[in-house]
Amino acid sequence: MDGVQKTFDKWAQNGRAELMEIEHGKNVTKFLDSVSFEKPFSFLDMGCGNGWVVRKMSEINNCKKAIGIDKSKKMIIQAKKKTTNKKQSFVHTDIESWKYNGKFDYIFSMESLYYADSIDIALRKIFKLLKPGGKFFCGTDFYLDNKATARWAGIMKIQMHLHSKKEWKKFFKDAGFEVKTKHVKDLKNKKKWKKEWGTLFITGTKPSK
Ligand SMILES: C[S@@+](CC[C@H](N)C(=O)[O-])C[C@H]1O[C@@H](n2cnc3c(N)ncnc32)[C@H](O)[C@@H]1O
Repeated sequence: MDGVQKTFDKWAQNGRAELMEIEHGKNVTKFLDSVSFEKPFSFLDMGCGNGWVVRKMSEINNCKKAIGIDKSKKMIIQAKKKTTNKKQSFVHTDIESWKYNGKFDYIFSMESLYYADSIDIALRKIFKLLKPGGKFFCGTDFYLDNKATARWAGIMKIQMHLHSKKEWKKFFKDAGFEVKTKHVKDLKNKKKWKKEWGTLFITGTKPSK
């Protein structure tokens, strides 16, 4: 078991998973509410934690299937316990080695991709798992421009890849995506970085042809 799995197994048991749900919830909800899910769609949350985004997305009528994967077994146990409808399912796996034959309309990830051994390899796998025209929404609070968050790596003591917005965009382009970015700020939050920089959402669209 690697350090990332060990850490998040602990977080699944000590209430930190629910704390993340609260702390990430506002900006993620703001972002996802700005997307119009007009057609029937399938959804994957990579690094789903306790599964709160899967549960939220599965409430949308057009959502036909919502899967959450996480490399922490204990997160997946929590997520399975919290399942609220039949559209939801959860798999204990890392993104890199996941064997899945289908493809998704949307893939989402919040504060997860930078824990991957290689962002590049994980991103290329995500690209493969998308349908042509499909989108990957990647949210991160931990990025170089958001200076107050840089110290997190020292506190966590596990692998966390710190990159600037410019570098993130390059990762996406190199993997074959068309890229857009958006900062979602929480103007009423006490934390200065949440007000000034907020969550960086990188949207990668897999070209249709
Ligand atoms: C900071 S937590 C965020 C959880 C959730 N997205 C949320 O916002 O509450 C990061 C999660 O990503 C998972 N994770 C990290 N690297 C992963 C990988 N390569 N494949 C699958 N899950 C991964 C961790 O186990 C952890 O549960």
